[in-house]
Amino acid sequence: MSDEEPVELGRAAAAHGEVVLRRRGAVTELIVDGVFAMDDVDTSTERALATETLARCAGTGLRVLVGGLGLGWTAATTLADPRVAQVDVAELQPALVGWARDGLLPALPADPRLRLHTADVAAHLADHPGAYDAVLLDVDNGPGFLVHQRNAGLYGTPGLTGALAALRPGGVLAVWASDPVPELADRLRGLPDATDVEHLVLPVQRDGRAFDYAIALARRTGDAQPSTGGS
Ligand SMILES: C[S@@+](CC[C@H](N)C(=O)[O-])C[C@H]1O[C@@H](n2cnc3c(N)ncnc32)[C@H](O)[C@@H]1O
Repeated sequence: MSDEEPVELGRAAAAHGEVVLRRRGAVTELIVDGVFAMDDVDTSTERALATETLARCAGTGLRVLVGGLGLGWTAATTLADPRVAQVDVAELQPALVGWARDGLLPALPADPRLRLHTADVAAHLADHPGAYDAVLLDVDNGPGFLVHQRNAGLYGTPGLTGALAALRPGGVLAVWASDPVPELADRLRGLPDATDVEHLVLPVQRDGRAFDYAIALARRTGDAQPSTGGS
């Protein structure tokens, strides 16, 4: 962690708590509702959330949902795949969406395939049945370390079933976590709509310490349908 004093780039209060974007030397930090959400010291696992999921998606014209935006690394990595036709990002904090549109998130390019929505990802999922080839969820520090208690439902059986329902048959759901989550993978294995469940453990070195982050993946049952890339 840098000793430099943070420089605030933005601060906004919203219904879901305060969000602060700040820079400490070369590092950009995001604080949500008083809880450290992330920085960009090591974004390998945020990027892996996109690359590991897209590696399991066939075809072109892919439509991807990313929830939430954070510093934009998962969304930017998704856009870097030329097979992706559309990236919808559901982000709870309107200020963060505004800062992204103002170009304050260094990782996130301006791209016509990118659609930023100020929305709770759970509501967005419910409104888009069968819409996506991939759904990438990184809205907390994982099921065991929630930024918002309201997100707890996302990781239970009804929430995961709802996330799978937003996928086309053969589409892939991925959930990022700051700790291994074998119980989440087990829950996915118990769902009739899920197949090919995997639990990836991703070692990261930070500030001289070793951490294991994780991604749980599942494919929606059924044969993959050709993607049209339309909306
Ligand atoms: C850890 S950050 C995401 C990091 C992101 N993967 C990246 O690459 O920068 C979590 C984000 O999820 C947002 N969030 C939390 N709960 C949400 C929800 N229910 N719906 C949409 N966004 C949510 C937070 O405001 C925050 O921007």
